[in-house]
Amino acid sequence: MILDSHHTTELRRQAFQAEIDARKSPTERNRLGQFATPNALAVEIAQQVGSLIKPDKSIRFADPAIGSGSFFSAALNVFGSSRVKTALGVEIDPEFAEAARQLWSIAGLEVVTADFTRWIGTTVAAPNLMLANPPYVRHHHMERNEKERLQRLTFKMTGVEVNGLAGLYVYFVLLATSWLETGGVAAWLIPSEFMDVNYGAALKKFLTDRVMLSRVHRFQADDVQFGDALVSSVVLVFRKVPPPADHCVEFTLGGTMGEPHVRDMVPIAQLQRSHKWTMYPTHSANDRYLSNGTKGPALGEFFRIQRGIATGCNKFFVLDRADARKRGLPDKYLRPILPSPRYLKTTIIDADDDGYPLIDRQLCVIDCGLPESMLKTEYPELWEYLQTARTLGIMDGYLIGKRSPWYKQEQREPAPFLCTYMGRGSGEKQPFRFIWNRSSAIGNNLYLMLSPRNKLATMLQEHPGRAEMVYALLRQVTGHELRREGRVYGGGLNKIEPNELARISAASFIERWPELSSDIESQGELFK
Ligand SMILES: C[S@@+](CC[C@H](N)C(=O)[O-])C[C@H]1O[C@@H](n2cnc3c(N)ncnc32)[C@H](O)[C@@H]1O
Repeated sequence: MILDSHHTTELRRQAFQAEIDARKSPTERNRLGQFATPNALAVEIAQQVGSLIKPDKSIRFADPAIGSGSFFSAALNVFGSSRVKTALGVEIDPEFAEAARQLWSIAGLEVVTADFTRWIGTTVAAPNLMLANPPYVRHHHMERNEKERLQRLTFKMTGVEVNGLAGLYVYFVLLATSWLETGGVAAWLIPSEFMDVNYGAALKKFLTDRVMLSRVHRFQADDVQFGDALVSSVVLVFRKVPPPADHCVEFTLGGTMGEPHVRDMVPIAQLQRSHKWTMYPTHSANDRYLSNGTKGPALGEFFRIQRGIATGCNKFFVLDRADARKRGLPDKYLRPILPSPRYLKTTIIDADDDGYPLIDRQLCVIDCGLPESMLKTEYPELWEYLQTARTLGIMDGYLIGKRSPWYKQEQREPAPFLCTYMGRGSGEKQPFRFIWNRSSAIGNNLYLMLSPRNKLATMLQEHPGRAEMVYALLRQVTGHELRREGRVYGGGLNKIEPNELARISAASFIERWPELSSDIESQGELFK
């Protein structure tokens, strides 16, 4: 009977949820991270946590971002209403708060309409079970003052210093865990990106030092749980007690939590040393697993790898070459630059007589170090063009404000090889494109520029014809290798930073030209 009525209420909840979602614009939903947990997933998560709680123990439930109550519904389903002694949900959006109240107050759920991060100081009995899918709001959508307030509050309550690049969900996990009863258990459904990036370090440390993390289940980018949130997600399950030194965490990947595709036990001592957690479980099905820990040669030893230039405003600083000519801008302060990757149709770029790429649209970037006073008298056309920046309102930009003079670009030599900074692709397919650049164009910051160095540079000077083989070897790097070193974002978008590309194996270069290997040995000696 109870089950029946719970089932009916759950169906009503789904209808409410769909109705409220439909009324809101995507921007509104993004602002508050309003993407509900599918109930089947909430039930599965509750079941996993359930196995950590003794069957005779009563439950004091809490969800700090309750929405319409998918997790409360799951808790009733898994533990039964008689075991759930108290239940509290916090929700900032009055519409969802009211819906949750209407649906679940009869089953004992108390709903507080509040911003959880402001409500958290309130004295309320600590819950012993917390299930949550917090708002994923990214840092650049959070006001600066708000971020600073959250950083101060989190430090005060937990002693953890959160990096300013962290999304709202990081603060939720830390603050809510300080509220959880010692010995209580929690499950969090959050984006997996914290597992690999620097700003996730504080949370990772917290998860290995302060709580006993029992399970980390990562959904694969291909089976994204939230069609509309487009985020690769992970479920963390932990108990709020310090972990014993020999504790191991179960990492699972793909499939469902009940039936993951692969699993692996990872000692926390190892996790504490691991920069990237997505490399677990160590299994060939996990394409982010570093299959060999061996220190072979890496691309970084043969290439200096840098992001292309960030101009501060491409629309203003990058012009069609023909347009720049028409305006009379002096050639000596214009440099050829490649179009953004999506407009670049070819991966082998030849040059015309003056070094510009032989492509449909030749572009140049304004790059000049002369002071404005000199420009005004010596290059009035350029000076006049630069004056229009003021009316376009780009002078307040961060990069532009930092430069002197404000139109001087970062200096980059053209690089013969480039790699696009982001892209998609699964299996063997490279998510990023390698480019062989035989022109004098530089790249913008959507490219990584690879300039040969050490013995590879010498070899290419002596045998320029070998550049073609270098390019072929770069194209042989597998999609798996690239994704494993890079990072994956929602919906399977991959990005790779220079230091990540630098870690990719360059064994094929040594195989092809064994004489290159002495570089590595002598560098190895240096680091000993
Ligand atoms: C990702 S949804 C999850 C909702 C629900 N727990 C579920 O799993 O379906 C996050 C919820 O947090 C709410 N929210 C956003 N910011 C909040 C805040 N500062 N305090 C409390 N709730 C917040 C949103 O309105 C939204 O309902």
